[in-house]
This record gives sequence, structure tokens and C-alpha cells, in this order.
Amino acid sequence: MTDQKELYASLMASAVAAREYSYSPYSGYRVGAALLGADGKVYTGCNIENAGYTPTNCAERTAVFKAVSEGVREFTAIAVVGGSGETLDAACTPCGVCRQVLAEFCEPGMPVILGTPEEMRVMTLGELLPFAFTKKNL
Ligand code: THU
Repeated sequence: MTDQKELYASLMASAVAAREYSYSPYSGYRVGAALLGADGKVYTGCNIENAGYTPTNCAERTAVFKAVSEGVREFTAIAVVGGSGETLDAACTPCGVCRQVLAEFCEPGMPVILGTPEEMRVMTLGELLPFAFTKKNL
């Protein structure tokens, strides 16, 4: 395995582990994310649902907010896995709000690793959110 593939596989494994903590009693859809900081540290997140529904936080944003709240604002990759119950979807693609939050801190070329540990699918943030509105617009 190449160094890059090994890195992606290890991020994927961290996302799968983070998914175990998913609090999703309403949808039953469990998501895990693992965000690699420029500091080399991995920030994990899971989705956290709420009886009020709208306060729900996605796994990706949980990971970003954990990192930023610890002073880390630069990231080099993120892995996301999700699915209902025990099953992992072929690709749990980040929702629009998470794409926008990622675009605040990450370059368009940043790899977003999706899929399953057995079949990874690598996209870039720019592919997921082309023509993003960012601080460069302001
Ligand atoms: N969810 C995420 O955590 N990340 C995504 O990008 C897609 C959706 C969560 C939110 C909610 O708890 C559940 O999946 C169903 O939408």
C-alpha cells in the first residue's frame, strides 16, 4: 500500500471508530468523521441528534468544531462514513451545510475520503462544492 493509501485507510478506520459514538435515536442514521489537522492530529466526530431536530450536528461539523476550538484551523484530509444501523453506505456524502463549513477552513483540493474501508472513494472538496462562497469573496 502506498503511504497515501495507508493514510486514507487509517483516517477511514478512525471515522468508523468515531461512528460508534453516533447519537442518532431519531434517524437511526449513524455517521463518523475523521479530520486530519495540519498539526498531524486527527479530530474525530459523530452526528449528535436532538429532540428538537434542528439542533442536530453532523459528524463532519463536530470534527471541525472540535479542532477549531482547540486552535487548529488547517486541515489536509477528511474521511466520512455513514449508514443506517450497522450498515455502511457506499458513499455518505457530506450535507450542504458541512460542505460550506469545510470550505471555510479547507482548500478546494483537500481530499474527502468516502465509502467504506473495503472500497474507498476519494473526491476533493472542490468537486463536492464547486464555486464555493468563501472569505475570498468578501
Ligand atoms: N448526517 C451527518 O452527520 N453528516 C452528513 O453529512 C449527512 C447527515 C447526519 C445528520 C443526521 O443525524 C443524520 O445523519 C440523518 O440526516
